[in-house]
Amino acid sequence: MPEPIERPDLGGPFPEHLAVIMDGNGRWAEQRGLRRVFGHREGVNSVRETVTECARMGVKSLTLYAFSVENWKRPRVEVRYLMRLLRRFLLDERATLMDNGVRLRGLGRLADLPGEARRTLEETERLTARNDGMLLRLALSYGSRTELGDAARSLARDVAAGRLDPEAIDDETLRGYLYDPETPDPDLVIRTAGELRLSNFLLWQCSYSELFVTDVCWPEFRKPQLLDALRAYAGRVRRFGGLIDDGPRTEASARQARAGRAS
Ligand code: FPP
Repeated sequence: MPEPIERPDLGGPFPEHLAVIMDGNGRWAEQRGLRRVFGHREGVNSVRETVTECARMGVKSLTLYAFSVENWKRPRVEVRYLMRLLRRFLLDERATLMDNGVRLRGLGRLADLPGEARRTLEETERLTARNDGMLLRLALSYGSRTELGDAARSLARDVAAGRLDPEAIDDETLRGYLYDPETPDPDLVIRTAGELRLSNFLLWQCSYSELFVTDVCWPEFRKPQLLDALRAYAGRVRRFGGLIDDGPRTEASARQARAGRAS
């Protein structure tokens, strides 16, 4: 049975969907005179702690940018190491995911993954599918431009086949062609290791997400740093382009408000 939700009172709204660009593994290792892969290995401990803490605090969805489409360009040994680490993580963490009621889902061009990693991912997705706690999405072989290209292709096919009227296409139609249309957009995007960019991560979905960048490298990102980010979010005022301060506090409630206005 999942442990009861222990949500800290940070004096403001709490994000329903948190997304993380986990950066700085290589730098963390190099600063210590270690090979880059040691940074990835230590980064797994941050993944474990972040997943467990978010599940306990009642975050509804957590998306972790674990491997981008561009990451295939890295040296073969590093790619192979990351794929093995992913598989090991999925095998080792199954019990913890079950204990915390976490549902796992891959996000991206999952067919690109090597067979063993892909099969282990699919098995873990199946095993956790009935959990009703937090949704953990691992972005793997993910790239926003690739996702939008894939969406445009499917949409164009539907238009060509007469299944979709081009004049009827709106934001929600487009959303329906993305990899995971059901999950509301991230409320908060955290990036570690100080770079001020989105790196091809959920570009469509992050249109109104709040951003939090920390200089801390991913292997050092643990509960205190997570709380810093949540505290910063609690202090933000979200207007989604409007003017009213007491408007929607999360992307999910903004979506509900848009649907209400349309009806
Ligand atoms: C960025 O650091 C990190 C990655 C490309 C991989 C992220 C992988 C992990 C955190 C470990 C495995 C994940 C799971 C889900 C098991 P970087 O190597 O680009 O760091 P740098 O910018 O300092 O070089």
